[in-house]
Amino acid sequence: MGAGVTVTPSVGGTARATLAAPRIAPRVPARFPEGWRLPSGASATFAPNAMAVSNSLPASEAAVEILKRGGNAVDAAVALGFALAVSWPEAGNIGGGGYMVIRLADGRTAAIDYREVAPLAATRDMYLDANGKLTDKSIVGHLASGVPGAVAGMAHALERYGTMSLRDVMQPAIRLAREGFVVDTGLASSIRNSERVRQFEGASVFFPNGQPLVAGTRLVQPDLARTLQAIAERGPAGFYRGWVADSLVAEMQRGGGIITTQDLAQYTPRERRPIRSSYRGFTLLAMPPSSSGGVTMTESLNILETWPSLGAHGSTPWYHAVASAYQRAFIDRNSKLGDPDFVPVPLEQLTSKSYAQALRRTISETRATPTRDVDATMQALPREPMNTTHYSVVDAAGNAVATTTTLNGSWGSGVWVRGAGFFLNNEMDDFAAQPGMPNMFGLVQGEQNAIQPGKRMLSAMSPTIVLDSAQQVLLVVGAAGGPTIITGTSQVILNVIDHRMNLADAMRAPRLHHQALPDSLTIEIGGVAPAVQDSLRAMGWALRPLRSLVNVNAIMRVPGGWEGVYEPRRTGGASGH
Ligand code: GLY
Repeated sequence: MGAGVTVTPSVGGTARATLAAPRIAPRVPARFPEGWRLPSGASATFAPNAMAVSNSLPASEAAVEILKRGGNAVDAAVALGFALAVSWPEAGNIGGGGYMVIRLADGRTAAIDYREVAPLAATRDMYLDANGKLTDKSIVGHLASGVPGAVAGMAHALERYGTMSLRDVMQPAIRLAREGFVVDTGLASSIRNSERVRQFEGASVFFPNGQPLVAGTRLVQPDLARTLQAIAERGPAGFYRGWVADSLVAEMQRGGGIITTQDLAQYTPRERRPIRSSYRGFTLLAMPPSSSGGVTMTESLNILETWPSLGAHGSTPWYHAVASAYQRAFIDRNSKLGDPDFVPVPLEQLTSKSYAQALRRTISETRATPTRDVDATMQALPREPMNTTHYSVVDAAGNAVATTTTLNGSWGSGVWVRGAGFFLNNEMDDFAAQPGMPNMFGLVQGEQNAIQPGKRMLSAMSPTIVLDSAQQVLLVVGAAGGPTIITGTSQVILNVIDHRMNLADAMRAPRLHHQALPDSLTIEIGGVAPAVQDSLRAMGWALRPLRSLVNVNAIMRVPGGWEGVYEPRRTGGASGH
């Protein structure tokens, strides 16, 4: 797979990292099952001062450009976010939404929610046909989009916590769109597999003459450059009002969508308090609802903390404990969480240590507990290439930003805004379009997450910052992959804290996933020793092997600086100075 790593020397005037070495136990070499395709012992990218990691090297380099010009981690993260909209258009976006968790070196924290909202004309049953059957309109086409939040959210973060102007931080993105960049193998493969894009206007850019762009092609996006320029000059008004907004609404009207100029004009990001929890002496700062990420991760880790030790990574007791914790946390996630501006959410209870103790008592040491009998059709659901993307940024002062952003499925709804050059999300599918029926990730969700106008659809995005016992940033981590975001992100944390892996090994370790329903334990092919698979089956676990689970991007503090690792199962870039 295509990939990239750069470390450039520190330039004059850029502060060197003065952070103390992290307070963690010495690292120990990881041991993975024989034949696992990502052997342990690989190295991470190291930089003494600052680091950015994402699924696109040009986007990570955009962040480093801003850091070298004296910007802080928030300036750099916003530069990276806009650059991803150009260089990783399957998930990087201005037509979608996301979440950003910030921890400044002075101790201030923030959780910015710029999730899309349901349009004002949305109705609870808008995706059911005349016979009450769920259609695919929440996934493909104009009706699938929520009102985009990305531009408003990034601008808000910059204004509150950045030091530079939007015009300045957007320059690398505008340049990438105007002058182009070289399509790498990861993007080429994503374009090749994006059947949905072929159905709409974006095909003219990504399938010129009917053929997908191939690796090595220079991709220039003049329409997107104009849109970004409008945002750089006018701020969010350049997107939510004026010709870009008019183009978006015209596109909606052409294809039977329902987003109006009023929807766009009234979109507002929300600033929330991060969920602050502890795990074995470390502090986690995680995203609260409207994402389920922070609650579900906290609940899972609280359950796992009730074991003094989880046992060896990859052993039967380890799989059993971790899967049982996820299964219980997802049962709560799927039934009790929703947009807190619309429904009551029992945050205190779900994140409390005493509740975790109670859940632990429901776990047998020897048997899997069935979530419930699961309809065979649910088990057989096709899985989308799930796409979202996460990026992590740190600077020399110790400011840290974890951001996850998404169009939902790869390339969103497939709908491309003519003349403005960007894709729209299909985030409406993250609602329970028909409570009790699975969505495209197989998640079976309830009334709390039913569609209402102006409501945010529940997310699994989990941008997370972990602090060591001295309250200094240790890890900046998050992932793409629908519900597997929660399990993938928390496993990198477990690998670092419980299994004392270095970051490269923590990212390469085989992963597992359980989301309550379908009631199966997803494992990575080649990642579980045959004897462990046999014992798990004997305990009652229904194993579901997949080639690859989750797309994580992470940074970890090490003595003398930072290590960055992009997802070894996908493409990306770690860049620092
Ligand atoms: N669209 C994936 C998520 O928000 O969970």
